[in-house]
Amino acid sequence: MAARTDTIFERFLAPIAKLVINQDELKRFHDSIDWESASDRLSNPTVHYPAYYSSQNFHGIEGGYLTIGAAVSYDPITQYALPPNEQWVRQALIDSVQSKPRRILDLGCGTGSTTLLLKKAFPDAEVIGLDLSPYMLVAAEHKAAQAGLEIQWRHGLAEQTGFPNASFDLVTASLLFHETPTAIAKNILRECHRLLTVGGEVLILDGNQKSLRQTEWLTDIFEEPYIRDYAQGSTDAWMGAAGFGRVQTQDFWLLHQVTHGVKAIASQSVEFSTPNFEQVNGKQWAMG
Ligand SMILES: C[S@@+](CC[C@H](N)C(=O)[O-])C[C@H]1O[C@@H](n2cnc3c(N)ncnc32)[C@H](O)[C@@H]1O
Repeated sequence: MAARTDTIFERFLAPIAKLVINQDELKRFHDSIDWESASDRLSNPTVHYPAYYSSQNFHGIEGGYLTIGAAVSYDPITQYALPPNEQWVRQALIDSVQSKPRRILDLGCGTGSTTLLLKKAFPDAEVIGLDLSPYMLVAAEHKAAQAGLEIQWRHGLAEQTGFPNASFDLVTASLLFHETPTAIAKNILRECHRLLTVGGEVLILDGNQKSLRQTEWLTDIFEEPYIRDYAQGSTDAWMGAAGFGRVQTQDFWLLHQVTHGVKAIASQSVEFSTPNFEQVNGKQWAMG
């Protein structure tokens, strides 16, 4: 994994990460998977990577999520990035679900940590994890197989998933919004609204915007290109503007927040038209 040499991440966090992360375990995980063939199998050939995603380094890592290194190192690093405890933080999203969903979509699912928890919490539901990085999906697929959980993994854009209108009753996103430009976060919420059945729930887990606004040094440390704009915004306001009702944000340990909304019966939101579909390798994909 290549890292820029002039970043705070490289100067301070990477050496610490090397100390606390078991490098042998990382190598064993890396060597246990044929990443290229697995990512080819999961890749949707119609996906075009937007510049806001492909041209940025995330966490100071060159190439961002479109690298095997990002997928291999994501879980070992993330366990230290979600104090006081990664499982508690993710569980806050699960505990906020108010219904018993039957079809669940986890957007920007990454290595599937929250997706797996959703499947465990709702074992009878059909659960789909969607991400723009085929390498992150490879890691997610591997984790689900190890846990014996049946989850579908899709390569695509959270803001234009290609799934039909009203095809899910729960749509979630964890740690996605601080990594997208504000305009994209708003588009993702409009897509969530389009995808949900009436009465369906949306849940967004991410950094606490109020706290992030007061701790600029924290936003600098993580080398995230869009986190400052995220901190200045308001997920509840974006959710309301996308047409959701009963919007509420719960703070969790000051550093995190879970925003919940429900697709109301008489919605005023502007819906996207259903994107075109294409059949590739027997699967339905959105056209880019
Ligand atoms: C910080 S990770 C979060 C992963 C996971 N949800 C978690 O909780 O650990 C952000 C993920 O969002 C994905 N991502 C970023 N922009 C996206 C987009 N527009 N559509 C789909 N996935 C996206 C990245 O590839 C990455 O896997």
